[in-house]
Amino acid sequence: MAFPLHRPRRLRSTGEMRSLVRETRLAPSQLVYPMFVCPGEGVRREISSMPGNYQLSVDQFVGDCEKLAGLGLGGIIVFGLPETKDEQASGAYADDGIVQRAVRAVKRALPKLLVITDVCNCEYTSHGHCGLVVGDDVDNDETLKWLSATAVSHARAGADIVAPSDMMDGRVAAIRAALDAADLTRIPILSYAAKFASVFYGPFREAAESTPQFGDRRGYQMDPPNAREAMREIELDLAEGADMIMIKPAMPYLDLIRQARDRFDVPLAAYQVSGEFAMIVAAARNGWLDQERAMLESLISIRRAGADFILTYFAPAAAKLL
Ligand code: PBG
Repeated sequence: MAFPLHRPRRLRSTGEMRSLVRETRLAPSQLVYPMFVCPGEGVRREISSMPGNYQLSVDQFVGDCEKLAGLGLGGIIVFGLPETKDEQASGAYADDGIVQRAVRAVKRALPKLLVITDVCNCEYTSHGHCGLVVGDDVDNDETLKWLSATAVSHARAGADIVAPSDMMDGRVAAIRAALDAADLTRIPILSYAAKFASVFYGPFREAAESTPQFGDRRGYQMDPPNAREAMREIELDLAEGADMIMIKPAMPYLDLIRQARDRFDVPLAAYQVSGEFAMIVAAARNGWLDQERAMLESLISIRRAGADFILTYFAPAAAKLL
């Protein structure tokens, strides 16, 4: 007995009507902007596969953050390109490392800007893997020491949240213990809990100069077909003390965002990664898609799937429209 009694189109008749009954909303405060900091001064190098995104020296980075500050973004997440790379990823946990310097500078200029740091080694190792390479494998437990040292040094520099993205086993527990031992009990951990070995990180690796020089990351990042294992990874990270969890990438994994939302009562992030951004921008540049609408529809789909906030290269552009 549906029609003609029920006519769902009644609630779609005008923009005002649609706005009244809209189920999912997107606000600037739900967007986090990833930024890349590099050595030097006055450096502003556009990343060719990510138009509108730059490798920025610390001065330029702070200047851009000052411009972003009025947009009401949730925050930024900082990635670093060190001066030199080595087998031990020493640039990752050096007190005067690139991320540490950038965070100190931006917190001095903008104490209220929420700063997340990515805790990983792949940008800092000469071989581009996320930890200590022994033979043809990454040594899990040794790598935990680097990650812990990195997280502590980021927090000491002023990071508000640390976000480990390496996918080593036990890293959340190791980082929590290290932060607590350093009197940094107040610093939350946003864990890249379910991070897949994805082809969609391609443009990022150009941006962060972190392509593995041999092999790939499938020995530590997750296998894309696995959903149950993603829930298990999240459970383990929460048991180890993660305060928030992340699914990455976002759009190819919307089902897992939904499953995680239904199962875990903690803040849930999703990372719309570089390849997701690049696909939309490339199609738009070919005249095949409307960039603004594709951007907003993709972001709302990630929110509808259940993400509380989204790490996205569209953050400034989307915030300007919202
Ligand atoms: C570091 C890291 C990566 C991304 C975020 N943190 C790259 C990788 O794992 O290869 C990807 C982000 C993106 O593609 O936008 N491990």
